[in-house]
Parts: sequence; structure tokens; C-alpha cells
Amino acid sequence: MNMNDIIVKKRDGGKLTTEEIGFFVKGYAQGDIPDYQAAALLMAIYFQKMDKEETFALTDAMRYSGDTVDLSGIFGIKVDKHSTGGVGDKTTLICAPLAAACGIPIAKMSGRGLGFTGGTVDKLEAIPGFQTTLEPAAFLKQVNEAGIAVIGQTAHITPADKKIYALRDVTGTVENLSLIASSIMSKKLAAGSDAIVLDVKCGSGAFMENQAAAEELGSLMCEIGSAAGKKTVAVVTDMNQPLGHAVGNSLEVIEAIETLKGNGPADITELSLKLAGVMIFLGARAKTSAEGEMMAKQALYSGAALAKLKTLITRQGGNPAVIEDYDLLPSAAYSMELTAPEAGFITSIDARAIGIASQHTGAGRQSKEDSVDLAAGIYLHCKVGDKAAKGEVLATLYGSSKGKLAAAVKEAEKAFVIGKEKPERPELIKEILGL
Ligand code: URA
Repeated sequence: MNMNDIIVKKRDGGKLTTEEIGFFVKGYAQGDIPDYQAAALLMAIYFQKMDKEETFALTDAMRYSGDTVDLSGIFGIKVDKHSTGGVGDKTTLICAPLAAACGIPIAKMSGRGLGFTGGTVDKLEAIPGFQTTLEPAAFLKQVNEAGIAVIGQTAHITPADKKIYALRDVTGTVENLSLIASSIMSKKLAAGSDAIVLDVKCGSGAFMENQAAAEELGSLMCEIGSAAGKKTVAVVTDMNQPLGHAVGNSLEVIEAIETLKGNGPADITELSLKLAGVMIFLGARAKTSAEGEMMAKQALYSGAALAKLKTLITRQGGNPAVIEDYDLLPSAAYSMELTAPEAGFITSIDARAIGIASQHTGAGRQSKEDSVDLAAGIYLHCKVGDKAAKGEVLATLYGSSKGKLAAAVKEAEKAFVIGKEKPERPELIKEILGL
């Protein structure tokens, strides 16, 4: 088999065989195929697309390109949850304890933030002492004993996806349905859970800017999951404005804890309960997702889910006192305010612009090697549909450098549109696929 023939075949609109896809993935991961040939094939795939069979084959080849996680030592149905990435998305910190409190074993591997989107591992590391790496045996033991463990993805899972994703990132080949779906699902399938709940974001702060594209991605991922024998549900949700009010690691931990205390913003609470409800249903603790949602609500308002979060923090070496004392979390040296230039209704708050502004505060990273300022970020004092007076504070930005904050304020300004007409509040949960 020859890489040039494979590139030419796809360039001319041909369908690649499982063997050809396997040859590319294995050869590229091992370093036998150079970047220029891999990039040429990715661009051919970008334009000519892949059909379902090719997409399943690509997912499989990447899934088995490294270690896979064996969760069979954990009792019960393991349900994973994944978000395609957003701004202010701290739902894992909430729905994982909610589902765990309802008897779903949570053995979760999460990612770090990149670009304008955040990641759960960074948020957890804002909790003093919290360890996001555990040996496999300790990981399984913790889930069996405490019902929940959340760690960073190990380096040995889906190495082919890591290499291909990094190349896509610099060759204009990220935004292809098959490439995105196979990238996400290869990691989810390698992570070993029995069922998967996907939160597929759509809007300005997401890969998929419109609902139709997000639904297409969601259904493709559900089909990949089902073909691999895993029940998979995709919840398509709005990411036109940031989720909740807090963007940035320490700030999001506080908002997640407040939500588990019953004081969360309406959107975060609604989405977390919805996702947890589906997780509880897929984990066979409820007959329907609506019943699962009711159970999640009880776990929220009884304090059981907050207690689970406390257990998670304690078991992974974190200081559980943060739950009562937010001063124990990293806090920023400086803050700056962004005020409304005119009176009116908040017509839109562009999630991507807020994500970029948050990156400027120091809360996000440009490249994988960058470190993040755990105390930095943005607190939004308003949501779309709210009324603002001239000069009213729309957002407070936090960070450790006045220069960075000034640049971040400039970016954040671009996010807000203020109009005279009261806009419709955007619908948060747009579609549920695969239920
Ligand atoms: N997230 C991934 O892991 N892969 C993609 O291709 C896009 C988003």
C-alpha cells in the first residue's frame, strides 16, 4: 500500500477502504508517514468528505492506536459525558456529582482548555491540592469506593488522534464532520465507559455555528457510538452566549459549587439537570430521562450531589473546605470593569469573543504547552435579555497583570450588543438525539 495512491484516491472522490485508513493512521502515528502527506490527505478528506463506513473505520483505527481503558473492574453501568467545548461550561463539575449521587459510577477522564474554550482538568486544578492524575488501579478503586473519580486523559490514549488533531489545527482541516466526530468518539470509546452522553454545542462559541450542523455532528457521533455497541445520546445546546456568569477556572469552580448548593444560574442548573437525567437513564437507574432528571433534582436540593463533590475533592487530595470558603481558591491581584456605553437590552453576548477575552486575562492557553492563570477570568453580570443602564457594570475581569486586563477589556467590549428591543431569550436545549 502506498500513501500517495491513498491521497490521490480521496482527492478524486474515491472511498477509502478500512485497510487504507488503518495504513494511514498507523503509519502517521508511528512517524512513517510525513506531515506533508498526512496534511494532503486531511485536506482531501476535508473537501471530498468521508461516508459513514469510512468515518467508523477512522474512529476505530484511532481508538486502538494506543492504550484503551478497561473499566470492567468497576461495578455497574459506567456513563461518560462529553462536551464539544464551550465558554463557561462547567457542567461536568455539576452533573458528574449529580449522577454519582444517583448511583451512576463516574470514571471520567477530562481535558484541558485550549484556545477560547475551557477544560475540566484546569478547573479542578484551581482547587488547592487537587490531583488530576491517578494510577489506573487507584482510579478504579476510587470509583468503586466513592462512586466518582475525575482525572486528566492519560498520554497513551489515542496517540494517533493527538497527532492528527494537532496537524488539523495548523492546516485548516478542523471543521470537517467526519474528522471531528471520529476524533471525539475515538477518545470516548477508548475511555471504556458503557454509555456516552454528548453535549454538542452550537453557536458562536462552538465548532458548529448553526443548529443543523450541530445536529448532523450529534447524530453521526450517536451512530458511531451505537456501531461500537455503546448507547450514545447527543444533547444539542446553545453556545451563542457563555454558560452561566463565570468564565475562568477559579470563578467557574465557585459557580459550580453555588449551583450544587441550589443557587446556580438558571441555564447552568437546567443543562446540568438535563445531562445528569440522561446519564441516570443510560445507567439504568431511571426508566426515562425525565425520571432521571427528577432524581438529579432531588440529589441537588437534598445536598447529596454537593456531598459527592466534597468526596471527590477529598479523595483526590484537594481541600474540601473550599466548598464553604471561596477565599481558599486562587484569587486575582487585579480586576477591571466593563460598563455599558448606552442604556438598553442586552441583545447578544458573543461567546467566542468572551472566550478570547478570557484567554487575554490569562485564564486560557494559546498552545498546549502554555500554563494558565487559575485566578483569571471574567464574571458577566448580565445575560441576553437583561436590561442595562448606561454605565452599569456588564462584566468584571480578573487577572494578575493590568496590561493583560486592559487588552481583555477591549476584547470583551466586542462581545456585547445592546439594543432598544427586548430580545427573545435563546432556547438552551435545542434537541436530544438518540434517546
Ligand atoms: N474536539 C476534539 O477532540 N476533536 C475535534 O476534532 C474537535 C473537537
